[in-house]
Amino acid sequence: MERFDAIILGAGAAGMMAALTAGQRGRRVLLLDHADKPGKKILISGGGRCNFTNVHTAADRFLSANPHFAKSALGRYAPQDFIDLVDRHGIAWHEKTLGQLFCDGSSRQIVAMLTDECAAGGVDIRVQHAITAISKPDDFSVTTDRGTFAAPSLVIATGGPSIPQMGATGFAYDVTRQFGLKVVEPRPALVPLTLSGEAMMFRGLSGIAVDSIARCGKQSFHEASLFTHRGLSGPAILQISSYWRNGEAILLDLLPGRDAAAALIAAKRERPRTQIRTILGELLPARLAELLAEPLGLNGELANIADKALGAAGERLNGWRFVPNGSEGYAKAEVTVGGVDTAGLSSKTMEARKIPGLYFIGEAVDVTGWLGGYNFQWAWASGVAAGQVL
Ligand code: FDA
Repeated sequence: MERFDAIILGAGAAGMMAALTAGQRGRRVLLLDHADKPGKKILISGGGRCNFTNVHTAADRFLSANPHFAKSALGRYAPQDFIDLVDRHGIAWHEKTLGQLFCDGSSRQIVAMLTDECAAGGVDIRVQHAITAISKPDDFSVTTDRGTFAAPSLVIATGGPSIPQMGATGFAYDVTRQFGLKVVEPRPALVPLTLSGEAMMFRGLSGIAVDSIARCGKQSFHEASLFTHRGLSGPAILQISSYWRNGEAILLDLLPGRDAAAALIAAKRERPRTQIRTILGELLPARLAELLAEPLGLNGELANIADKALGAAGERLNGWRFVPNGSEGYAKAEVTVGGVDTAGLSSKTMEARKIPGLYFIGEAVDVTGWLGGYNFQWAWASGVAAGQVL
């Protein structure tokens, strides 16, 4: 049996960050993964350019049963710390929108940077190791199909079940339960939503994006929404999907920042002989305007439509009600909401309170960021928090 100071399971964003931090502090670290190479999700992230952080990172941009949990780690490892690392490696980057930082070149540069930093810390990275059992006779013992390894510290950095076709698993939850800890029920997040019934008429708009505000309960996001052949997607919908639960309605404001009722009534005063479809076509993308005229129950010249009907139509345009019948699930979800219950973890070190030496970091934990680089920032920050104490 080979012995180390720490074993980290999962060579993704959080696992590599924890490994390089501990390794550079002189710890003997083994980083194990079942995939054929490290950082596979980083490689496909941000459309191949890795949206590696967000300069607006703050705890209120994360979902968790305990909204305060992420504050400590995020406060001690900020976006600027990761930017400094990226700069030290000469990786060019740019801000795309809303504080989202992307590589100019390729996300491969981020993986290369992390593996170089791991090498500088003497981290032993071993891929293609299927983990078959974990036990804790005294130290932690990890059995794989290629040998057994032991260490006094074990870090679970195996992420969430999103995108199983890339090797993502619910392994972290199995370990959590094995050690008597709790899991906040996981569900797919940052995921397209699906529609059925009457709403299927929007299928005809597949491929059309609109500026919108998507609302669910008290949460709202002002970004683009995209109609798809199965339902709704685009950044506003992906964002709101993390807050949405089965059976709830999503209100989509198709004319953000405009009082649609007032605009329709004003148009009637100014151009009474104009067709309602023409006015809708001026306010909305043409295909959307055409499709909405019928469910809005409007036809003919503005002069012949009562103000009340225009007012009601305007209200619908500012809050079109969709009740999705589901989401596209883990196969299309960028992340997983829920995970290892933070109530059982130290917010400073990510160590399980009841099981000294056992740590959970990254997406496995019940901390989930908005779209736009927040999830990587959590992976880096929680990785550093554990890496500093291993
Ligand atoms: P991550 O999933 O990165 O790593 C887990 C590792 O554990 C993997 O290497 C996996 O192979 C390994 N593993 C899993 N089960 C195992 C087992 N049973 N045994 C051994 N190893 C196991 N976020 C962001 O901030 N900006 C972005 O641009 C994007 N873009 C993006 C695009 C797409 C398509 C997806 C699916 C996701 C994103 N994300 C993102 C989210 C981001 O990728 C995610 O939050 C982080 O990768 C989470 O980092 P972790 O290290 O926790 O898990």
